Amino acid sequence: MENEQTSIHDFNLNLICELHVGLERQGPGSPEMTIKALSFLDNLNKTSRVVDLGCGTGGQTMVLAQNITGNITGVDFFPDFINTFNDNAKKLNLQERVNGIVDSMENLSFQKEEFDLIWSEGAIANIGFEKGLNYWKDFLKKDGYIAVTYESWFTDERPAEIEKWWIDAVPEISTIGHNILIMQKSGYIPVAAFTLPEKCWTDNYFIPREAAGKALLEKYTGNKTVEAFIANMKYEAELYSKYRQFYGYVFYIGKKI
Ligand SMILES: C[S@@+](CC[C@H](N)C(=O)[O-])C[C@H]1O[C@@H](n2cnc3c(N)ncnc32)[C@H](O)[C@@H]1O
Repeated sequence: MENEQTSIHDFNLNLICELHVGLERQGPGSPEMTIKALSFLDNLNKTSRVVDLGCGTGGQTMVLAQNITGNITGVDFFPDFINTFNDNAKKLNLQERVNGIVDSMENLSFQKEEFDLIWSEGAIANIGFEKGLNYWKDFLKKDGYIAVTYESWFTDERPAEIEKWWIDAVPEISTIGHNILIMQKSGYIPVAAFTLPEKCWTDNYFIPREAAGKALLEKYTGNKTVEAFIANMKYEAELYSKYRQFYGYVFYIGKKI
């Protein structure tokens, strides 16, 4: 199979889970950027309730927990990620305030207006940016905050090769300006938007993922699906190195009106 013709949607979710479960994070980001996003919020205290949607194994959740005093619930639909998440919380002695549950971000089992803060790094595309902002808003208190990272175009136009890749992976991908407008129309005051530095993609995600990919190839020697999957990951990293001036993750922070 040619890399260019292979979509991430073609791969088995179990394979995606197995590749990522041992990594510190499952998408681009960094502790510094999580803390920077937190610096825009002014409503958190000991009684605050926070939810991290699409938390993965909790790389960013643990950073959050070490920098705020409230309670955090992590939500992810992979049980293996949540098991590791809860192990990580225990290792850091955060289990009293940090708990991971298996649930879908599209069908949340929380009360309306339960949270002071909704966090989500690298995951809102799974429900859709606009749909997520609108659906999740019901679970936020008035004046509560939302902070998400989301794939965004930096320019109005870009080369066809990278446009094709992203339209396939995230069909509603758009520019920063348009995403801020969507946030405003969804009932939030846009508070801040900033781009994630390149090392969030390379040092913190692609490089550890490449090492995990090599181990997976050895475990499943000769398995064509695994080979195509890892080739697809490699192609994604090559595209980033070639076209990184055209796109990246952006932190969007909004306050519910
Ligand atoms: C790119 S990873 C980001 C993980 C983590 N937030 C990070 O930045 O390292 C996206 C996460 O969203 C989770 N996810 C995808 N669709 C989901 C859904 N419908 N409900 C809950 N979690 C979902 C995946 O299992 C994965 O852990």
